[in-house]
Amino acid sequence: MAPSTISIVFFSLILLISHSNAKSSRKPEAFTFPIKKDDSTNQYYTNIQIGSNSTKFNVVIDLGGKLLYFNSINYSTASYRPVLCGTPQCSISSGGGCMFCVFSPPDTPCTNNSCTDYALNPFSGTRGYSPLGQDSLLVRYARGAHRYYTTVDNFPFQFSDPVLREGLAGPAAGLIGLGRTQISLPAQIASAFRVRQRFALCLPPAGGDGNLIVGETTYSNPFEGISKSSLFTTPLIRNRVSTFGNEVIGNLTHEYFIDVKSVRVGLKTLSLNKTLLSINNKDGSGGTSIRTVRAYTGLHRSIYMALIDEFVKAAASQNIKRVASVAPFGACFGSKTVTSSKTGPQVPTIDFVLHKKSVYWRFYGANSMVRVSDEVICLAFVEGATNLVGPTTSIEVGGYQMENYLLEFDVASSKLGFSSSLLLHDTSCSKFGAS
Ligand SMILES: *[C@@H]1O[C@H](CO)[C@@H](O)[C@H](O)[C@H]1NC(C)=O
Ligand SMILES: *[C@@H]1O[C@H](CO)[C@@H](O)[C@H](O)[C@H]1NC(C)=O
Ligand SMILES: *[C@@H]1O[C@H](CO)[C@@H](O)[C@H](O)[C@H]1NC(C)=O
Ligand SMILES: *[C@@H]1O[C@H](CO)[C@@H](O)[C@H](O)[C@H]1NC(C)=O
Ligand SMILES: *[C@@H]1O[C@H](CO)[C@@H](O)[C@H](O)[C@H]1NC(C)=O
Repeated sequence: MAPSTISIVFFSLILLISHSNAKSSRKPEAFTFPIKKDDSTNQYYTNIQIGSNSTKFNVVIDLGGKLLYFNSINYSTASYRPVLCGTPQCSISSGGGCMFCVFSPPDTPCTNNSCTDYALNPFSGTRGYSPLGQDSLLVRYARGAHRYYTTVDNFPFQFSDPVLREGLAGPAAGLIGLGRTQISLPAQIASAFRVRQRFALCLPPAGGDGNLIVGETTYSNPFEGISKSSLFTTPLIRNRVSTFGNEVIGNLTHEYFIDVKSVRVGLKTLSLNKTLLSINNKDGSGGTSIRTVRAYTGLHRSIYMALIDEFVKAAASQNIKRVASVAPFGACFGSKTVTSSKTGPQVPTIDFVLHKKSVYWRFYGANSMVRVSDEVICLAFVEGATNLVGPTTSIEVGGYQMENYLLEFDVASSKLGFSSSLLLHDTSCSKFGAS
C-alpha cells in the first residue's frame, strides 16, 4: 500500500509544479476594457490608466478611430516621451510631418522635431494636427477569477488641443480609436504582446455595463458557446477612400465596412437603389460602415424612406398605432399598442442581409425601437447626414443597433463575427467577460 500512496503524492506534486509553471510562463493574451454608455450623449466610453502615476480617465470609444487622444490637467507622469521624427513609432502614424509642439502634457517641455499626426473628433468634425507622444498604458487581463495588470510601454497618443474635447461625453477626457491603423489600440496590443489583431465588442444599453476584449481569449459562459457555435461571419471590407477627405495623408479609411446587400422588414425585401449599397471605388461614397460614434443607424434618405414606408405598413398590420413623429425619428407609435417580449417591443423585425442570403443581422424591438416618452416609442433609425468633408456612406450602423450583440472583429483576417441578439440567449453584454 505504502509505495502507491507515495507515488500518488509524488504524481500530484509534479502536476502541481507543472501547473504553476504553465501559469507563470503563459503570456497575457487578452485585455479587458469596461464600457459604459453616457445617457446624455449616447456615447460609449471606457476607462484607461496611463503614465508613471497611472492617471485614470475616461475616453470615448471610436470603433473606426485612428488613435488615442486626450487632454487632461490631471495627467501627471514622469514617463512621457515625445515621438520623434524618423523613429519607428513615427513611421507607423500617418505622418503629418515634423514640428515644434504646441500642446504638451503639464510640466513637459515641448520638443522640436516631433512627429505629428491628425486626430479627429467624430462628433464636431474638428481635426487636431499635433505631435504624438508615448507613455505606458496600464492594461488589465484575467486568469480565471484573478485580475492582473501589465503595461504597454511606449503607447502612442496625441496630447491634443483642448478643442478636441468639445462634444465628447462629459466624463471623457479624450477618445480611443479601434480603427484599421497601426497606432490604434488593437494594433498596438497585438504588436506589444504578439497576439492576433482582433477584438470583441459588447456594447451595453444606457445604465448597463459592457466590455471590450482585445486579443485572444475564451469567454465566460454562455458567451464561449455563442462565439464558438452561433456567430454569423461576414467579410470586413475596405473603403479605399478616406471618409475624411482632407485628412491629407493616408488614403484608406480607418473605419470598418460590411457588405449589406439588402434590407428586409419582416419577410419583405425593400426595393432599394443597389448602387447606394456598394462602395463606389472611385469616390468612396456608398456602402455600409459600423460606427460606435453614431447613436442610431443613419440611412441615405431613399433607404430611410423605403424602410419607414414598409415598417409602418407592417406595424399597421399588427394593429400598432402610428402617432406624430418626434424628431429626429421619422416613425413613432403609441407604446400601449405594442406588446413586449424578451427581445423588447414586439414589432416587425428588420434584417440587414449581408454577403450571402443566409447571413443577416436581425434587429428586434430592443434595438429597433426607442422610447421617447411614456406613451411613445419610435423607430430608432435616422436619416443620415451628408458628410461635408468626404464621401457619404449610405448606411452607418450606429451604437443603439449594436447593443447586446457580441461582435468579434478579426482584423487580421478581415472578418466580422456577430451573434444574434443576446436577449434571445437570455443574456446581455453586462455579463460578457473573459474566462
Ligand atoms: C481631474 O480629476 C478630478 C478628480 O478625480 C476629476 O473630478 C476631474 O474631472 C478631472 N479633470 C479632468 C480634466 O480630467
Ligand atoms: C505623481 O503623483 C504624486 C502624488 O500625487 C505627486 O507628488 C508626483 O509629483 C506625481 N508625479 C509626477 C511625475 O507628476
Ligand atoms: C527648436 O527649433 C527652433 C528653430 O530651429 C530653434 O530656434 C529652437 O531653439 C529649438 N528649440 C528647442 C527647445 O530645441
Ligand atoms: C488618394 O485617393 C484619391 C481618390 O481615390 C486618388 O486620386 C489619389 O491618387 C490617392 N492618393 C494616394 C497618395 O494614394
Ligand atoms: C442610384 O444611386 C446612385 C448613387 O447615388 C445615383 O447616381 C443614381 O441616379 C440612383 N439611381 C436611381 C434609379 O435613382
